[in-house]
Amino acid sequence: MARELQKAMPEAELQSIPEALQEDQLMVKAECVGLVFPMHYFGLPMQVEEFLQKLTFLESPYTFAIVTCGVPYWGRPFMDAEKILKEKNCRLHAAWYVRLVSNYIPYRDIAADWRIRIRAWLAERKLKNIIAAIKERKAHTTWQLLKKFCGNFHAKWLAGQHEIDTKFLCDKEKCTACGLCERICHRDNIKRPEGQPVWQHHCVECLGCLHICPVKAIDYGEITKGRKRYRHKAVKITDLLRKT
Ligand SMILES: Cc1cc2nc3c(=O)[nH]c(=O)nc-3n(C[C@H](O)[C@H](O)[C@H](O)COP(=O)(O)O)c2cc1C
Ligand code: SF4
Ligand code: SF4
Repeated sequence: MARELQKAMPEAELQSIPEALQEDQLMVKAECVGLVFPMHYFGLPMQVEEFLQKLTFLESPYTFAIVTCGVPYWGRPFMDAEKILKEKNCRLHAAWYVRLVSNYIPYRDIAADWRIRIRAWLAERKLKNIIAAIKERKAHTTWQLLKKFCGNFHAKWLAGQHEIDTKFLCDKEKCTACGLCERICHRDNIKRPEGQPVWQHHCVECLGCLHICPVKAIDYGEITKGRKRYRHKAVKITDLLRKT
């Protein structure tokens, strides 16, 4: 999504959120700032919340957010993002959901290929309209359904998130010790003293390690066994790996 935006607005600078989080402070001097991130448990992924907290705005930009999701409208990602932005004297001028494919395989399997293709086509179409609106610096609001219910659900998830990796299993028979799971984890939450991953309990449940494993050696308990793994067709493995 972010790359497509940049193609349409070549003057824009892309910044990866997990990489930016390596910095202690993030100063932003721009006339327009866009946030692109996935919805996690009806709200902000933990890394996005940390990222927003670290921002200091040196001028007052037009700010927009695009949230990718498996199921749109349920949740409160924009409301929660705006709350943090307001503390920094900034507001969210425009917000959109773009429905892609849910990669949350503990809940259900990845959609069929034909559905993935249709969603990608619809997403590309929606993004064109979004780009036109951003270029004109238009305001845009969107639904955020069941905000209170989703807020409680999100808070409960955040409280238990770090320990979620106690449910992860690695099948030693399948694992080839390739190291990709360790290299995708931006939380440095995977060590491999004997080749196979050992989780360190500061997980943010991005599920990157499950989806990247080329031999499907990693599972979330028994529930993800036999389910597909997924990566958006425009995303290369090297795009996802840690740079350091
Ligand atoms: C921990 C976790 C929680 C998720 N929660 C939601 C959710 O509440 N609502 C939703 O629509 N999608 C949810 N998803 C699905 C992602 O938002 C979706 O897979 C992502 O936006 C797709 O973007 P991508 O193709 O760039 O990965 C969740 C995914 C993960 C890993
Ligand atoms: S990505 Fe899979 S095969 Fe590679 S080290 Fe991790 S668990 Fe093993
Ligand atoms: S799900 Fe895997 S890649 Fe993501 S933070 Fe947890 S251990 Fe790291």
